[in-house]
Amino acid sequence: MLLDQPRNPIVSCILSSASANGSRQRSALARGILHPTGNARLFRAHIQGQFMDKLIIEGGVPLTGVVHVSGSKNAALPILMGSILLDEPVTYTNVPDLRDIRTTFKLLELLGCPNAFENGQVTVTPGALSPEAPYELVKTMRASVLVLGPLLARLGEARVAMPGGCAIGARPVDLHLSALEKMGARFDLEDGYILGRCRKLNGAHIHFDFPTVGGTENLLMAAALADGETILENAAREPEVVDLARFLIACGARIEGHGTSVIRIQGVPRLGGCTYRIMPDRIEAGTLLAAAGITDGELLLTDCPFEELDAVIAKMRQMGMEIEPTADGVLARRSCALRGVDVTTQPFPGFPTDMQAQIMSLMCLSEGSGVISETIFENRFMHVQELVRMGADIRLSGHTAIIRGVQRLAGAPVMASDLRASASLVLAGLAAKG
Ligand code: EPU
Repeated sequence: MLLDQPRNPIVSCILSSASANGSRQRSALARGILHPTGNARLFRAHIQGQFMDKLIIEGGVPLTGVVHVSGSKNAALPILMGSILLDEPVTYTNVPDLRDIRTTFKLLELLGCPNAFENGQVTVTPGALSPEAPYELVKTMRASVLVLGPLLARLGEARVAMPGGCAIGARPVDLHLSALEKMGARFDLEDGYILGRCRKLNGAHIHFDFPTVGGTENLLMAAALADGETILENAAREPEVVDLARFLIACGARIEGHGTSVIRIQGVPRLGGCTYRIMPDRIEAGTLLAAAGITDGELLLTDCPFEELDAVIAKMRQMGMEIEPTADGVLARRSCALRGVDVTTQPFPGFPTDMQAQIMSLMCLSEGSGVISETIFENRFMHVQELVRMGADIRLSGHTAIIRGVQRLAGAPVMASDLRASASLVLAGLAAKG
């Protein structure tokens, strides 16, 4: 199977450097599984003036081995942005080497926080801050908007390019802005930039209309240095939000209730440095579990965040996988032919939208049929037509996909869109004939 994808957020945690000598990013599958069986190769080709990553996968090999789960991308991004809040150097470990993380380092540098990254560890030294997050960086990484809260808290000023829509939906930031306004910030839109100003952020009582992950993270950071108490209601409960809160607490913040839908933050006058280990990536881990299932292999995942994967593991077990924690890690294999199930994506602790595409690939090769409803993003079915090109039987009706299992998938050239869609196509390719 041939998979073309723009050099964008990537199939990163899965395959992004499956080349034998891929030193920069040693992906989990490449390190743990693909090398021994040699069933995937990565090519960088110059196509139509734009660098593309191309993966050629020869499917049909059960994946077996031990794989170490990397640090979490979606925890690392806000935590790294949190450096802006500190007045002392901070060291992070277990930082995954991904394109978005490298973009974050560039952004931090531009904002006045020089950093040095090596072997999964980075020290960031906050200095004289600058308020501008330029379009060139924001357009490649939506998470750049997470500098808004920290910049307002430290500088009383932020100029951040308005993030556009992306492959999975429009993704506005209205909930971030209205919540920051409650804390005393004022916003204007000028030349495509969000201009934020405040004298000093004040604690506020904020109720989110939707438990937005990025919104909760931006507000946690803003409130950490605000005057007085902030209460966030209907806050996101995702483990990555909890990791950010733990990091802020390690730096001196006063936060309670993280992991529940009501978070209370007592602002403090300053935050200092610390050494912080980023949590392991639950979506990478879930994708690897799917890889064991779809190839009928057996994988042992080390540093696997088992508790944070409850909803995913419950569905995979219902499909017929055996997934058990052991003293050495989490062991995953198939116990019988896989069965179709029904899945609805929801905010944590529900089934994560970031695993929707991967479980769909697994369902393509299951007995019977299953239904997947996507409730978080309006356009997160870009992988469907590509899976159909490989022989899958999937019908789309609005936000719902009905999947009827087929006996086999066949290799085909396919186009990847967003990160998780790419992961689902890699999974399908690993199990496909040819
Ligand atoms: N939304 C609004 N207004 C807002 C904020 C969000 O309408 O102000 C909508 C979004 O358009 C979306 C929904 O609410 O439809 C969920 O957005 P949320 O803010 O919760 O997500 P996010 O912070 O933009 C993070 C992850 C995503 C993950 C979602 C949901 C990071 C950097 N990104 O995005 O990860 O899918 O939470 O769990 O943490 C990925 O890793 O592939 C990825 C897309």
